Amino acid sequence: AAPRPLAGRRAVVTSGPTVEAIDPVRFIANRSSGKQGHAVAAALAALGAEVTLVSGPVTIPDPAGVRMVRVESARDMLAACQAALPADILVCAAAVADWRVEAADQKLKKQPGGAPPALVLSENPDILATLSQAGARRPRLVVGFAAETETVVEHAVAKRRRKGCDWILANDVSPATGTFGGDDNTLHLITDHGVEDWPRLTKQAAAERLAARIAEALAAASPK
Ligand code: PMT
Repeated sequence: AAPRPLAGRRAVVTSGPTVEAIDPVRFIANRSSGKQGHAVAAALAALGAEVTLVSGPVTIPDPAGVRMVRVESARDMLAACQAALPADILVCAAAVADWRVEAADQKLKKQPGGAPPALVLSENPDILATLSQAGARRPRLVVGFAAETETVVEHAVAKRRRKGCDWILANDVSPATGTFGGDDNTLHLITDHGVEDWPRLTKQAAAERLAARIAEALAAASPK
């Protein structure tokens, strides 16, 4: 049988976009397909972890062997993650909206000759930062992603410190890279020990590499 080094470990993974309502029929979202986050959930489950996958709306199939929790907004995603704790591992791969709209209760009406409505934005909770700083509830190993379009590694190094996660995987999401929605990814793993540049891999292969690293780190921290 395949080795299951994560048997007995619990993991929470976020994936996909969040969707923030403008009114009952309109929303703001982003181009995340869920491919990277879903692949991470599948790879952790394949190593034996008990995985809760908290996903925004996506069109790809559910990975086998994980518990799915479907959400829409960033606030729903945070609540679902908190409800899934305690966990040993948290991987935040979702593209969470930094801001939400003060949503209207009724469909916004176009007024003849009227000015377009102004959208008033307010800040969403940061799921990765909140759970990285959750005290006794903090998962043992917290891994974020950093989606950048310039000075990718430098920004990600700062983001890891600011949010308080253990590891961050930086990826370039400039349109030419095809990272959002595509099948491949070029990642840089940033830890306390420095920066490791990974080759361009399929999202599945990158997820398997990450899951193997997570299994090694947890085995070293608390051998079973
Ligand atoms: O879904 P795919 O099409 O496969 O694309 C994969 C991906 C590009 C979405 C993925 O690889 C990725 O980079 N995910 C993180 C996207 C993102 O929102 O990055 P960020 O740099 O804005 O956020 C940094 C980290 O904080 C991320 O772990 C993010 O999940 C988390 N975050 C951000 C804002 C917020 N309010 N809450 C969060 O938890």
